[in-house]
Amino acid sequence: MDEIIVSIATKSDKPQLLEFFKHYSNPEILESRIDCYLSHNSTILAKDGGKIVGTLQWHIKEDPSCGIVEFEEFHVLESHRGKGIGSALLEKGIQSVKDTFSELGIEPRRIFAFVGTQHDAARRVFEKSGFEQISEVGNLLSDSEIDLIYCLEI
Ligand SMILES: CC(C)(COP(=O)(O)OP(=O)(O)OC[C@H]1O[C@@H](n2cnc3c(N)ncnc32)[C@H](O)[C@@H]1OP(=O)(O)O)[C@@H](O)C(=O)NCCC(=O)NCCS
Repeated sequence: MDEIIVSIATKSDKPQLLEFFKHYSNPEILESRIDCYLSHNSTILAKDGGKIVGTLQWHIKEDPSCGIVEFEEFHVLESHRGKGIGSALLEKGIQSVKDTFSELGIEPRRIFAFVGTQHDAARRVFEKSGFEQISEVGNLLSDSEIDLIYCLEI
């Protein structure tokens, strides 16, 4: 494993992102989704020797003046887990939210994330970064998994 670089994705990452998210069922939706997040500088990547090994995306919910963000697509390749990459992605994501809101002249207030109950490692990493479980929402993202809402006050 080379040194892991965690940074904000640019348009040059698009081909690799298309490959990383190829499990999406509709290629057109996937591509426009990637373009949208790239244009807002809200895709965070971990790379090992130039290869994407981890992702985190975020978006502002509704009116930016509410100061609310959601984190999603938080994923590290199995081969690279347990080495602090997930924590580094969250840290960079939180900083990029603060920087973006600062440029907008708005105070960010809260970051939310949905986490499945059985994703113990994800729960641990969010908690290590200061997120707290604030609610349980039932079968939200799938019929087989209960989702929890995690929140970070910033
Ligand atoms: C969640 C995920 C991104 C974490 O990435 P990572 O690079 O392994 O994260 P880190 O190395 O920073 O931290 C992992 C932590 O989880 C802990 N952990 C790992 N497996 C665990 C388990 N089964 N139960 C509890 N904690 C666990 C590790 O011990 C470590 O905590 P520590 O530093 O206190 O020892 C990665 O596991 C993943 O991609 N999982 C599948 C996708 C997923 O669940 N995404 C989240 C959906 S919201």
